[in-house]
Amino acid sequence: MRVHVADHPLITHKLTVLRDKNTPSPVFRSLTEELMTLLAYEGTRNVRVEPVTIQTPVAETEGVRIGDPKPLIVPILRAGLGMLEGMVKLVPTAEVGFLGMARDEETLEPTTYAERLPEDLSDRQCFVLDPMLATGGSLAAAIEFLFARGAKDITAICILGTPEGLEAVETAMAGREVTIVLGALDERLNEHGYIVPGLGDAGDRLYGTV
Ligand code: URA
Repeated sequence: MRVHVADHPLITHKLTVLRDKNTPSPVFRSLTEELMTLLAYEGTRNVRVEPVTIQTPVAETEGVRIGDPKPLIVPILRAGLGMLEGMVKLVPTAEVGFLGMARDEETLEPTTYAERLPEDLSDRQCFVLDPMLATGGSLAAAIEFLFARGAKDITAICILGTPEGLEAVETAMAGREVTIVLGALDERLNEHGYIVPGLGDAGDRLYGTV
């Protein structure tokens, strides 16, 4: 498992405002989107491109473009939805699939309640969006789901992670390769499954408590 913690003052600045409990929902939403665009830049370092020849006003030159099959973005519902626009802005030709994972608040175990994904993911580059890598349970389950559909190239992009969550995902991967990009690696998980210092419940702060 490759882990990359983004280290950039702009990311840390935006994360600081995001963490602040006094930051209202509208600001939280737009900051999540902006942060995602910055993390997408890190997360797409290995996005597949194909060579193209183009004509500038001055000369012919070689370049690249994101070709087919298109990258597949998979936001984990519901909080991952808050990251989607930020990623699509950077990779507008990508396709978007959805995976609904919920955490049982008692057992903290993940369950899948919705999915809209291609049957065969064997040739797709998958980018999973999940803001909070807390216990690692939902992310591991989501990645497992994509592996079961044949995916071989998976990058997960999370705003915050914990050492416990990374370890849980690594154990669940059992040597299979995935890349995880984090905005920051926080201290720990508390007894309620919240990231410390964290930012609270990302879904609630994005969308309210419904
Ligand atoms: N999910 C959240 O939204 N926040 C946490 O701190 C942990 C899981």
